[in-house]
Amino acid sequence: MRELFFAIIAAWALLFVYALGLVVYRKAFHPLAQYPGPWLWSVSRVPWVYHQVSGNLAKAILKIHNQYGEVVRTSPDEISFITPSAWRDIYGPGRTEFFKKDMKVYPRMVENVDSILTADNANHPRHRKLLNYAFSERALRAQEPLFQKYVDQLIHKLRDSIGTESSVDLVKWYNWTTFDIIGHLGFGEPFGCLESKDYHPWVAMIIEHIKGGAYLSASKRYSFLIPIMRRLIPKELIAKRNAQLALTKEKVARRVATDSSDADFLSFILKENNEKGLNRAELEVDASILIIAGSETTATTMSGTTYYLLKYPETLKRLKAEIRSVFVSEEDINFLSVQELRYMNACIKEGLRLFPPIPTGLARILEDRPGGEYVSGCFIPDRTRVSVSQYSAYRSPLNFKDPDSFRPERWLGDPDYAADKRDAVQSFSIGPRNCIGVTMGWAEMRLMLARVVWNFDLELLDDGFNPEQQDVYNFWQKPALNVRLSDASKSRRKA
Ligand code: HEM
Repeated sequence: MRELFFAIIAAWALLFVYALGLVVYRKAFHPLAQYPGPWLWSVSRVPWVYHQVSGNLAKAILKIHNQYGEVVRTSPDEISFITPSAWRDIYGPGRTEFFKKDMKVYPRMVENVDSILTADNANHPRHRKLLNYAFSERALRAQEPLFQKYVDQLIHKLRDSIGTESSVDLVKWYNWTTFDIIGHLGFGEPFGCLESKDYHPWVAMIIEHIKGGAYLSASKRYSFLIPIMRRLIPKELIAKRNAQLALTKEKVARRVATDSSDADFLSFILKENNEKGLNRAELEVDASILIIAGSETTATTMSGTTYYLLKYPETLKRLKAEIRSVFVSEEDINFLSVQELRYMNACIKEGLRLFPPIPTGLARILEDRPGGEYVSGCFIPDRTRVSVSQYSAYRSPLNFKDPDSFRPERWLGDPDYAADKRDAVQSFSIGPRNCIGVTMGWAEMRLMLARVVWNFDLELLDDGFNPEQQDVYNFWQKPALNVRLSDASKSRRKA
């Protein structure tokens, strides 16, 4: 009995000495020890995991940058940057070879099948080359009628609501519109969200899945947590997930079997696909990724930009004046003409800055580089995790004057904002793994915002949407954006 007691004490003592040794090593002797950061974050990943599962990691990292500067240590093996040059040094051309995607953060949707988002450097070009056909200028021109059709539907439905509903939640309406557009482009058929004024089960499931993904990526930091997390996932969620995968297969199979004249993604991809291209399982996961990446992002930017326009009425006034003076009729509003709306473009850029759809860092890990690398002039040893934290970079007073204020004029050459580091904002990332949908995303958002502001006068009813109060689980957990709409035809005539 005494021996057992002493063995237990000795084991605890050893564990204590080991933990103490690890703390001292990580804080004083680790190759990243020179980088500033809160000491608890430097010696343990627990604070990172805690904030990730609490939904406030992006804001916690901003706080660290505000206290410690542009380059900070946010975990024993992780550095966060907010410098403009870090974009080029981590994600730029020639750098993705060794700054690889951190697979603890990027989960696969289907076991053993990589999408364009998770494919390694050897396979990524295969996905990207084929998908590029669906995102060419020519494709976008052919796709414009489809975008106009769903924006028409949005406008009609919102107009119908004026007489019957005292307010509308624009978060839902923007999400329904972008899901219907991308569902049609991805699967050859819409989800019918606008028609039913509800989220399709496929869409509802994917929203739940994204939040679950944030927990999973947190649990991957401690391998003993993975089986526990797997057990904790409710059976009902697994069943729904399987149903969603089955529906994806079914939708892709139906679309492949149809000889459609639509300019949807598969019409471009299938024409060019061959045995060196993508197999059916890869097409299915890419379709799913396109739907998530191409809907939540644009809907978030639309919601954020609309919210800030309403919070800063002088900006909305100026935007209305621009849209309602440039166009004579609504038919003039199209992909080409909206590019010319200078003020509106600045408003969307400012919306992307204050409310980036992907607020946390795009996680990368330096691999197979025994000699290390430099990022923004800082030495990074092999096996270090790095990222530019978008929310932190965009809200930092080191990069922007009045960082929390909505000031579209900072993008229009206003001398008051001449010192802003605008190239710290790379909402679509850069380099070979940047956003494939950047041109499409811009076209869609410009069209939607111009037509909403053309058609309606808007009034914010409450501050429930305030991003300062929102959680982030990979994406923002957006509450309602409650707005009262009125028909703008009278105010347009007066103007
Ligand atoms: C406001 C709108 C959007 C923003 C801010 C945005 C942002 C981004 C960012 C930052 C990345 C890099 C992700 C990473 O490195 O992990 C990315 C990748 C991607 N985006 Fe977007 N995106 C937007 C709209 C779209 C649209 C409309 C589509 C398609 C319809 C799309 C499809 C994709 C895809 C497929 C990737 C992966 C590209 C690759 O790995 O080669 N995105 N996006």
